[in-house]
Amino acid sequence: MPTIESILHETRCFEPPHPFTENARIKDRATYDALVEEATQDWDGFWARRAREEITWITPFTKPYRGDHATRHTWFEDGVLNASVNCLDRHLGAHRHKPAIIFEGDDGATEIWSYLRMHQEVCRFANGIKEKGIQRGDRVVIYMPMHPRAVVAMLACARIGAIHSVVFAGFSTKALKDRIADTGAKMVITADEAVRGGKTIPLKQTVDLSLPKITKKSSVKTVVIMRRTQADISMKPGRDLFWEELTHGQPDICPPEPMGSEDPLFILYTSGSTGKPKGILHTTAGYLLGAILSMKWVFDYQSDDIFWCTADVGWITGHTYVAYGPMAVGATQLIFEGTPTHPHAGRFWEVVEKHRVTTFYTAPTAIRSLIKTGKELPKSYNLSSLRLLGSVGEPINPEAWIWYKETVGENRCPVVDTWWQTETGSHMIAPLPGALATKPGSCTLPLPGIFASVVDETGHELGPGQGGLLVIKKPWPSQLRTIWGDDERYRKNYFLHGESGKSFYLASDSAVRDEEGYFWIMGRMDDVLTVSGHRLGTMEIESSLVASPGVAEAAVVARPDDLTGEAIVAFVVPHGACPTGQAASQMAEELRQWVTQEIGAIAKPREIRFGDNLPKTRSGKIMRRLLRLIAKGEAISQDTSTLENPAILEQLKESL
Ligand code: WTA
Repeated sequence: MPTIESILHETRCFEPPHPFTENARIKDRATYDALVEEATQDWDGFWARRAREEITWITPFTKPYRGDHATRHTWFEDGVLNASVNCLDRHLGAHRHKPAIIFEGDDGATEIWSYLRMHQEVCRFANGIKEKGIQRGDRVVIYMPMHPRAVVAMLACARIGAIHSVVFAGFSTKALKDRIADTGAKMVITADEAVRGGKTIPLKQTVDLSLPKITKKSSVKTVVIMRRTQADISMKPGRDLFWEELTHGQPDICPPEPMGSEDPLFILYTSGSTGKPKGILHTTAGYLLGAILSMKWVFDYQSDDIFWCTADVGWITGHTYVAYGPMAVGATQLIFEGTPTHPHAGRFWEVVEKHRVTTFYTAPTAIRSLIKTGKELPKSYNLSSLRLLGSVGEPINPEAWIWYKETVGENRCPVVDTWWQTETGSHMIAPLPGALATKPGSCTLPLPGIFASVVDETGHELGPGQGGLLVIKKPWPSQLRTIWGDDERYRKNYFLHGESGKSFYLASDSAVRDEEGYFWIMGRMDDVLTVSGHRLGTMEIESSLVASPGVAEAAVVARPDDLTGEAIVAFVVPHGACPTGQAASQMAEELRQWVTQEIGAIAKPREIRFGDNLPKTRSGKIMRRLLRLIAKGEAISQDTSTLENPAILEQLKESL
């Protein structure tokens, strides 16, 4: 395989800032190096020690790792625990009245939920669903808005050993229906409506449309509804009941189900390269350990933090860094119901100021859209409470990274760019902010105990500057265990069996390491272009475009080309209004020149199309597959109803 040419020449490097380092858990590079060394010398012992320290066990384990070092893994197998006890009960001593969740509603109303209240609500709800027949191992689909009760529902399942599968509340009927069918869920937990950005979303109605009219024909026997807006909804007798009917008269104590470390905790669906979503299965102890350690290592969790992860609970980020990680370490976290720019473009910054947020974790797509709505806006808010900023979900362009650090973090806050996946359960490659120097656009180095590498297709390790496949060489505790109901797809999809006889976890991302071993993620493997025999990561071209003054956002795809193999097509969102006619051709030409200057003629887009936005999933990922079809002039036959903004496709098609 020809190596992917790294064309990103980023030389800026920032040491961990003072005074951040003074109070950091891991204060210097030497401490990080010592942890890495400990894990290198005694890999399963390293994890076993952490698991004993960080998890509250009902019965301690004796076996750290058992598996074949290829596709089968168990961690702490004979240990017994309950995840909800780790997230709630163990904080009920000194911290029972500590706020667990500060809830900021779409309309600005605030509620504070203490650990004690969370514990009582979880127990009552757990007793309620048990009474409805939900038992250990049963699947429960949760289709709820961002609300403390979404976390209550998840932890209540964990309390009684039921497997939750959260479906993002922005998904439509078909997506919900498919997921209910694939899990064989017995219960759906939902709300009458969700409220986001001043608009209501009819969740219960979507649930009704996703379930058969005759309950007998469905695996789902009960639908529980939280009232959010008091909207008039239809209730099916015998099947549907309100949250308060379910919990009425239930005791606020519920004995936790003793769970094995390897018992399933949840299933979460994620899209694969083919159409059918994959139900990623995570188990109990290993997942929890990953969530706890990354809270401490990467977010440098301190007991007085106000932690805000903006991700929805429908995504893995909302599982690990809303429902489980912050709760397991006993943090105070903010849950926000609304959108970044409603009712005004400064809403995020207003919320940071109002609740004195210390740790802010969001996605590059949100950062770029905030840059677009007003570069100077954060300066009109008091952001002095912030001490750490994080980014997740896609490569962050160096220019966006610098803006984040300078304008939001006021050069005081380290920026942690965290690489991980639904499948990895928790952070994999990310800086320990008190210990590692950061470079804009690089997720830096693997966490201690994670052995990441860049290899070619035969599994041979590549050197600095040589792009290739990102792999993880050894198993780790929070790794997925299988794809629900499709073990074969799991075994086929995720592993590279190298010539050396070793098997690696294959991330499907391409990456390159620099001379200092820092990882630079170049994008999904299917985002790699081949132009005139050169393999280029789309990310690098996009970064160059975004670095140009007039550009807010850009996505680059390839279309087949007789001459060069593939030709680059760039979709560009300008800062101001979309140019048309002569102005459009002129801007396109300027951008082509810009990329030529920045990267080289090889990366010059053949075609540039302008739009007011890009087609995105509800989690903000650019749908490059659709852009590729538009670039090729082909019809889009797949379902586009799960897009955030389906109408943009028409505009882009006509933009030539
Ligand atoms: C991408 C989200 C670059 C990557 C936690 C990965 C990133 C996919 C980063 C997983 C990052 C995530 N830099 N790329 N910091 N974080 N990705 O399953 O392509 O929704 O494979 O998990 O997002 O997306 P997922």
